[in-house]
Amino acid sequence: YDTKTPQYKTSDPTSFAYVSARERWPVIITQGIDDVHRSTWQTKDEETVKEGKWIVSELAKLKYELQHDRQLSPLLDDGEPDILGYNKELEALGNPKWHSVPWLFSECYLYRRISTIFSQTQKWKSYDIFARQKMSTFKSSRPAVLELAAKYKDIVTELESKHTLKGAKTEEEVEAAEKVLFNEMMEICLWGNATDLSLLTNLSYEDIQKLQGSEARKASEKNIIVNDLGKAFDVLTAAKHSGKKERRLDIVLDNAGFELFVDLILAGYLLAAGLVTTIVLHPKSIPWFVSDVLPGDFASLISALADPQSFYTSSDDDNDAGKATPLTDEEVSNLQFLFQHWSGFHAEGQLVLRPNRFWTEGGSYWRLPATATDLLEDFKESELIVFKGDLNYRKLTADVSATWPATTPFAEAIGPLGPKSGVRVLALRTCKADVVVGLPEGEDERLRGTDNGGGSSGARKWAWSGKYAVVQFCDGKAS
Ligand code: F6P
Ligand code: MG
Repeated sequence: YDTKTPQYKTSDPTSFAYVSARERWPVIITQGIDDVHRSTWQTKDEETVKEGKWIVSELAKLKYELQHDRQLSPLLDDGEPDILGYNKELEALGNPKWHSVPWLFSECYLYRRISTIFSQTQKWKSYDIFARQKMSTFKSSRPAVLELAAKYKDIVTELESKHTLKGAKTEEEVEAAEKVLFNEMMEICLWGNATDLSLLTNLSYEDIQKLQGSEARKASEKNIIVNDLGKAFDVLTAAKHSGKKERRLDIVLDNAGFELFVDLILAGYLLAAGLVTTIVLHPKSIPWFVSDVLPGDFASLISALADPQSFYTSSDDDNDAGKATPLTDEEVSNLQFLFQHWSGFHAEGQLVLRPNRFWTEGGSYWRLPATATDLLEDFKESELIVFKGDLNYRKLTADVSATWPATTPFAEAIGPLGPKSGVRVLALRTCKADVVVGLPEGEDERLRGTDNGGGSSGARKWAWSGKYAVVQFCDGKAS
């Protein structure tokens, strides 16, 4: 059930894996050390301080092993069933070293290993080493959040009061208006992924804002190099017309903060427009790839919206929000509208959070049908499964290396989740890694020829920065 095609490895000098293992990961661990350090000094509890120091030393050890190209050591059993799988895989890979190991597996191992350090403590078991970064980046996206909140309130109010959109009268007009908004919401949701903390480690306030406004979105439309949104809209409207009462859409989440915010904007729109009746969100269970959503991030976001004024203006030691301009009454009311709307859906069971340890295993989603049968059966109940972000895309396509041309059809590249799987897949992905499939003939070559596209170096550099995106669909329910 696994792909037989070789995957990207950290030893491949032309891949982003190479840079990741040598430059990016040590920085991520260092930031983690700083974070724990800070929390340690903020407490007076002796045991917490003692354990905090121990965590720092374990993280330093991990960083040393990584930078000195040592073997990936077996994971300590913390009682979760995935440990066995990780350790078996290490053995099957011949106990590899950090600088010559499949990229996908080793990057997952890195976060899983960090998690085992915390689970060995008493006081830090549920500590999220990346929570600070996630929240402070969300704070920095204030202008885009306010813009979207105002827009959301307008759309939803219009939908709920008149049951129609933009003055549309006939059924065709309503559907055309719904389609325009569907595309826009999906695109917001797509580009929300471009502000991912694991990649953009030193993003400035201005950089974040540039990536998020509606102007930026319009300018980026040409950078969606494959766009199957129309097909996704068609399956949702077909289900609606079929008279089916329960129509569910799933989102396999990626990052917290601004991206989760826009995922909820999309979810709220789909529910309010009646395009679906339930949305199931799939978060991670342990701190993952720096910015991924944990259930706690969902709770923090909702409570920030419940009292936005104090969220944006209260001072903490992480940023200078204390000096921020207070929100206007209208801005407060727009944000509280979101809070009420989303908590309403949540309370009614229409917006559900469903964690599963499968998401933090080390393998690709080619394994899903065989090893996560519970998930597969659950997914079959859904009209559409939206996979957000780069890592989900790498896992869908098994991170297969350059031996697969970029023209390989998406349906083929996702293996057992492809045709006849019983599951409909939609990937919304800004490209931050080498693997790309489903491109038209000649497109990869054209993009390599652009500025910083990689040229003749052999590296697919255009796909590393989040500038380009693909939206790809496969109907595994079609007969
Ligand atoms: O490309 C850098 C990287 O950290 C990848 O290793 C990983 O796949 C991705 O970014 C995470 O991005 P996202 O949050 O979009 O999945
Ligand atoms: Mg992520």
